[in-house]
Amino acid sequence: MLTKEDNDRLTRVGPGTPMGDLMRRYWMPIAISADIGERPAARRLLGEDLVVFRSGDGKVGVVDRQCKHRRADLLVGVCEKSGIRCGYHGWMYAHDGQVIEQPAEPRLNPRVRIKAYPAQELGGLVWTYMGPQPAPLLPHFDLFVWEDAIRDVGECVLDFNFMQAMENSVDPHHVEWLHGRFMNAHNAIENNGKEPVEVLARKHLKVGFDPFEYGIIKRRVLEGQTEEDEDWKVGHPLVFPIMLRVGGGGMDQFQIRVPIDDTHTWHLWYTAYRPKTAFARQTTVPRYDVPLFDAKGERIVDFVDGQDIAAWAGQGVIADRSLETLGASDVGVVMLRRMFLEQLKRVEANEDPLGTVRDPAANVCIDLPMEQNKYGSGAAFRDELFAHQAVRYSPIRDAVQTLFRQAEGRSASVPVSTAMA
Ligand code: FES
Ligand SMILES: [Fe+2]
Repeated sequence: MLTKEDNDRLTRVGPGTPMGDLMRRYWMPIAISADIGERPAARRLLGEDLVVFRSGDGKVGVVDRQCKHRRADLLVGVCEKSGIRCGYHGWMYAHDGQVIEQPAEPRLNPRVRIKAYPAQELGGLVWTYMGPQPAPLLPHFDLFVWEDAIRDVGECVLDFNFMQAMENSVDPHHVEWLHGRFMNAHNAIENNGKEPVEVLARKHLKVGFDPFEYGIIKRRVLEGQTEEDEDWKVGHPLVFPIMLRVGGGGMDQFQIRVPIDDTHTWHLWYTAYRPKTAFARQTTVPRYDVPLFDAKGERIVDFVDGQDIAAWAGQGVIADRSLETLGASDVGVVMLRRMFLEQLKRVEANEDPLGTVRDPAANVCIDLPMEQNKYGSGAAFRDELFAHQAVRYSPIRDAVQTLFRQAEGRSASVPVSTAMA
């Protein structure tokens, strides 16, 4: 359990809060590149209302949503060749927030600037940095820069605090219950024809957590495994502060939990597939929605991520950690909370927090550890991901799955359940 004060420190992300200051030391995704076209797009990030735009020269920008003149909404604006123009009286701002045109004024007032944050594109996402200068480098984590990958990105907005999702990333025991017992019971009750998912229901004999330079490496030994299996030997990381790395069998994913504000989270499933076969290069990274509710307004819980989200939502809009009863199995959650509280102190002392990248030579491609033979089942585990995780909603799922099967010499028509046998 935590004190109410520490619970607030861990969960409040607005300007001037300790966690808000920590989050502002990291580059954050603010939009999917494919969504930023000819019109400005409104986004809220860390409690600030912003507009993302792409100027005619192709460069992305992130500025305050309200115009400096008489506070019109820049969403009603025009993307011009080298900036964004307010739709009301035509003031134009460059990417750094400097006003460059005030058409109805006798002369330009160069002292006028709108709030603006540095923006970059990487891997089909628009990233921004809202902290003090000098800005660190935007980390080139492997999935974002691999040349031999096909990518897609799923998204949804969660109506609760991001920390509940991050804590779940260092909580391996939930897998056998939420994605094993609960999923199988739900599917049996619903009688919707789905097979029990045995691989996720295996008992955890041992879990381990190791801090490393980008976060925490999570390890497990499942029933029938030893410490020689990749699930223990290699593991996979929580990438501090807002990402989880998952996958296996040539499919790697970041789950990114972007704090919109204290009570909303933009959840991304950013997936890179490497089927080891020839494929046409993507010109854009396709996006898709991950639905959370069915036609009756009930949560969709017949897939792994839907089950996670239902569990996180049930903890409250901002979980009250002063009312918890933690056990020995929560060791990873405790480590993560300590890590966050330590990093808050580092930022309060004006030091770079964990994972800050400032050396360009170390930022060509940051390889993260990741089991490929996850749960000892490699490609078969990947087939389970295609069937039971958010990627099942991807518009390119079937095409990618076919590529994997061709590359592995399997018939393109093999059904998932047979592949598991
Ligand atoms: S309110 Fe934007 S130009 Fe007047
Ligand atoms: Fe989960």
